[in-house]
Amino acid sequence: MKELCVKAYAKLNLSLDVLGAMGNGYHEMRMVMQSVTLADDVSIRLTDSGTVALRTNLGFLPNDERNIAAKAARLFFAEAGMEGAGAEIRLHKRVPVGAGLGGGSSDAAAVLRGLNEMTGTGFSREKLERLGARLGSDVPFCVAGGTQLASGRGDELRDLPPLPDCPIVICKPPFPIQTPALFACIDSRRSRIHPDTEGLLAALDGGDLVGLARRMYNVFEDVLPRRCAEIGQIKSRFLDLGALGTVMSGTGSAVFALFDSEALAEQARAELGRSYRECFLTRPLGRIL
Ligand code: C5P
Repeated sequence: MKELCVKAYAKLNLSLDVLGAMGNGYHEMRMVMQSVTLADDVSIRLTDSGTVALRTNLGFLPNDERNIAAKAARLFFAEAGMEGAGAEIRLHKRVPVGAGLGGGSSDAAAVLRGLNEMTGTGFSREKLERLGARLGSDVPFCVAGGTQLASGRGDELRDLPPLPDCPIVICKPPFPIQTPALFACIDSRRSRIHPDTEGLLAALDGGDLVGLARRMYNVFEDVLPRRCAEIGQIKSRFLDLGALGTVMSGTGSAVFALFDSEALAEQARAELGRSYRECFLTRPLGRIL
C-alpha cells in the first residue's frame, strides 16, 4: 500500500490526578482518558526517499523534524529496519493546538498505526504503545484510544468500560497554557485535593453518566494562573446551559462538558461559539485497535 489516510482523534481527561514528582523530570499520574470523534486527518504516502517530509494546514506548526508526527515516522522506520524508506505526511489539523486535547500525540500515534498497516510490519498494539512512549507521555493512550486508565508517566494503560454515548461540547479559549510551567505550580503546592478516581471508575462500570460527570476533576485547575480566569467562566456557562459536568482537559486550556441532551449540547455550542472561535460538538469514541 502506497497511500493511506488515518484519523487522529482528540483525547479528553475525564479526571486527572498528579500523585507526585518521579525525580526524572516527570510526574506520576492517574488519569481517566477518553477519545472523541473530533479528529485531525493524517495522510501518509510511502516513498523510497529515505526522508520524512511533512505539510500541515497551519502555518505556525513546525514541518521539520521538530514535529512529533515526523519523529514518529522516523522512529517507526528505524524500529522496523526500513532504512531506505521515506514518507510524505500531510496533517489536516482540526483539533485545537496547545489545548490539552492531545492533538500532536494523536497525530504521532496515527502515523505509527498507519505505517504499521501500510508496510505490513505487524507490530502489536503493545509494541506501538512502547514506541509511542518514546515520543511523548500521551502517545501510548492515543495508539488504541477509547476509554483507558493511564498511570505512571501516563504510559501504563488499562482498558476501561466505554463511556456511555453522550454529546460533548469542547471550548478552547484563545490562550495556550505551558505544560511544564503548570507541573511546576503543582510541585509548589503543599496540600492538594484529589479527584475521586475510584468513584469515577465505579460510575463508568455501572454506566452511570450522571455520577461520572459529577466526579470529573482535574488537579491542574487548582493551580491555574490568574490570567486563566476564563476557564472557570466557561465552566459556569456550561453548567448554566444544562451540562451534567464540566472540566478542563489535561493542562488546558480547552474545557469540555458532558450533556444528556443533543438539543442542550447544540445550544451550548452555539452560545459559547459566539464568544469563542474554537467550539466543537463531539461524541465519545470506542477503541480503534
Ligand atoms: O512526555 P511529554 O513530552 O508530553 O511531556 C512534556 C512535559 O510535561 C515534560 O517535559 C514534563 O515537564 C511534563 N510531564 C510531567 N509528567 C508527566 C508527563 C509530562 O512532568 N507524567
